[in-house]
Amino acid sequence: MSNRRVGILGLGAYLPEKVLTNFDLEKMVDTTDEWITTRTGIRERRIVEKGTATSDLAARAAKEAIQSAKLTPADIDLIIVATISPDMLMPSTACIVQEKIGAKCGSFDISAACSGFPYGLAIGEGLVRSGAYRHILVIGAEVTSSFINWKDRSTCVLFGDGAGAAVVGEVHDGHDILATYLGADGSQAKLLQIPAGGSAIPPTTETINSGLHFVQMEGSEVFKSAVRTMVDAITEVTRRANIKLGEIDCFIPHQANLRILNAVAERMGIPFEKVYVNLDRYGNMSAASTIVALYEAVKEGKVKKDSNVVLVAFGSGLTWAACAIRW
Ligand code: UT7
Repeated sequence: MSNRRVGILGLGAYLPEKVLTNFDLEKMVDTTDEWITTRTGIRERRIVEKGTATSDLAARAAKEAIQSAKLTPADIDLIIVATISPDMLMPSTACIVQEKIGAKCGSFDISAACSGFPYGLAIGEGLVRSGAYRHILVIGAEVTSSFINWKDRSTCVLFGDGAGAAVVGEVHDGHDILATYLGADGSQAKLLQIPAGGSAIPPTTETINSGLHFVQMEGSEVFKSAVRTMVDAITEVTRRANIKLGEIDCFIPHQANLRILNAVAERMGIPFEKVYVNLDRYGNMSAASTIVALYEAVKEGKVKKDSNVVLVAFGSGLTWAACAIRW
């Protein structure tokens, strides 16, 4: 491995303006604000206006990240978009974003669901460290609202739309990515999936009528795996980064459920004030979740110069991932 120090040069985020509260959902499905708040911690989420695609949110976040890195789109030599809600099956959302921001470079999507951003960061870090690329735009962006069955109360209350972006490059004054760790267990693929629309179950009127193009989830099983895999990911990434758990200043977890975050913190003895939470405002934004949380934690001063930060996520696959960063 080269001695090059690689890290985050700039951050950006974009959240749609439209807010959908738990009280709005009470009028749409058989649910209550009380159930959603106590079972998940979510109070509201952002939802796009009809006609807005994932690439629209991604491009807004990307432009801010490039600007905050003091670069121009011409400086970007690779774009990676992590998403489970691509604009379409092909071309990749990354190619559409490339056109929207006015860059000219290699561009591709990755599919690691809610672990997508840390997966993308690990790829970006490796490619910059190798010397093959200088400035890689890593984006986590989702319009999950297009893939949700708005009649299914067990899933529609959980998700939200949004995007975040980071420019990865060589660093000289902090922000180093110290270690990354990626995991997956395909034997649990069926716990959380959008079954139809791909080659296994191509779209037909029957698949549409059966709701097979929407997110399906066995919530309580995913919950248990989430706690186990996040504990594993934090343990492994801190070992690889050679830092003690007590030396971590801020944990930026995937924002799916407050009870999951409490369980992870409790199991590991992490004081909860070190765990960044914004799921009350945005719900689960899948691949956008950790990057938007990092963006906000930096803006709010919860992550500052020399802070040791751990990003940690889990999601469909099942996948899990963590990145340790010295800010
Ligand atoms: O991004 C990664 C992916 N996802 C996750 O991390 C999600 C992980 N799982 C979870 O967060 C939780 O499992 C949920 C929030 C999805 C569900 O919470 P739970 O405590 O596991 O509830 P449950 O699924 O066991 O359901 C309990 C009850 C059921 O009623 P019965 O069968 O006990 O009568 C559900 O029908 O709650 C009912 N229920 C609801 N009630 C009101 C489920 N959804 C709702 C709802 N409003 N929205």
